Amino acid sequence: MKILITGNMGYIGPCLVRHLRENYPGFFLVGLDTGYFGNCLTNETILPECNVDVQFFGDVRSFPDDSCKGVDAVVHLAAISNDPMGNKFEDVTFDINFKSTIEMAKKAKMAGVKAFVYASSCSMYGSAESSARNESSLLNPLTAYAKSKVSSEIELKTIADDGFKITSLRFATACGMSERLRLDLVLNDFVACAVASKKITILSDGTPWRPLINTKDMARAIEWAIVREKENGGNFLAVNIGCDQWNFQVKDLAEAVSKVIPNIEISINHDAQPDKRSYKVNFDLFKKLAPAYQPRIDLMTTIEELKNGLEAMGFKDSNFRQSRYVRLKVLTELQEKGFLNERLEWTTKV
Ligand SMILES: NC(=O)c1ccc[n+]([C@@H]2O[C@H](COP(=O)([O-])OP(=O)(O)OC[C@H]3O[C@@H](n4cnc5c(N)ncnc54)[C@H](O)[C@@H]3O)[C@@H](O)[C@H]2O)c1
Repeated sequence: MKILITGNMGYIGPCLVRHLRENYPGFFLVGLDTGYFGNCLTNETILPECNVDVQFFGDVRSFPDDSCKGVDAVVHLAAISNDPMGNKFEDVTFDINFKSTIEMAKKAKMAGVKAFVYASSCSMYGSAESSARNESSLLNPLTAYAKSKVSSEIELKTIADDGFKITSLRFATACGMSERLRLDLVLNDFVACAVASKKITILSDGTPWRPLINTKDMARAIEWAIVREKENGGNFLAVNIGCDQWNFQVKDLAEAVSKVIPNIEISINHDAQPDKRSYKVNFDLFKKLAPAYQPRIDLMTTIEELKNGLEAMGFKDSNFRQSRYVRLKVLTELQEKGFLNERLEWTTKV
């Protein structure tokens, strides 16, 4: 099977490639990425792109028509991938996350691709504390990022047919190690705070709800979406990816980190404006459709994994929220130095 993975040079991409390589050594894996975070490596002796058969460097906004020739499945990860970036680069987020997704799906279908896997997000539920949201619940996207995921799903649904299966995976918030670690994700941030400074600073009042999922379990869910029979979920399927036990309040995550890394001070910002992005999610559908692909890695194991990974990196930067482990900082710096223009396209400056 030949699989094109867009956005393979980010946080989740290397975990997915490693998983597919280990479990399906015969698959031909093609990467396509513009390389915004190329040098944001966790361990600089390992270049994760060595695990794909071919790596293309390109922008999904100018996706060549013939890129899907001979491809059986596309996994579309490329995106402006969180709320802070979406807020700063709103128009670009719309172009990359929505317009390019739809163009790519159409080109993939034309080229005879059979399966299209889209990395969506539970953040489309927005404010949903009262009861856990399922796939039939009303969507309430509060940010440019979440809106781009909703718009994509609506349009993708019209493109799927008997010969072109689309699975939109509404992922919980990712956590865990990767060859390209991100520390702008809630649990990763807390563990990094604990390792670097023995103090976790919660920027909110700690009450928002977030469902979480380990990167390894995300990779397994993507595998399922590639191989699932279309009778199992239909030609178009939007499904929450995570598990019920992993709906946490942010303050509970900090407490959990302090159980693994002792003598931690936890500071909560009681004066913070309420964070409207708070949602509990129901994962029954995923459980029903994919019993063999349910998340396996628990919270304590993930915290241990992050702690060990950060310690192995010699991580000590208590100012990491301003570092290259934060996606928005990387893009802003590349732009300030003139390497990216206002549309986040590479300039020719060297
Ligand atoms: N990390 C999470 O918590 C999470 C949760 C839910 C959904 N998702 C989704 O999963 C996907 C991957 O997330 P991630 O955490 O790996 O994000 P990431 O930001 O780490 O990686 C995204 C990759 O896409 C590439 N990219 C961005 N714009 C591109 C363009 N125009 N052309 C080609 N490549 C481009 C970047 O260079 C980067 O390598 C995203 O679609 C994201 O929205 C992530």
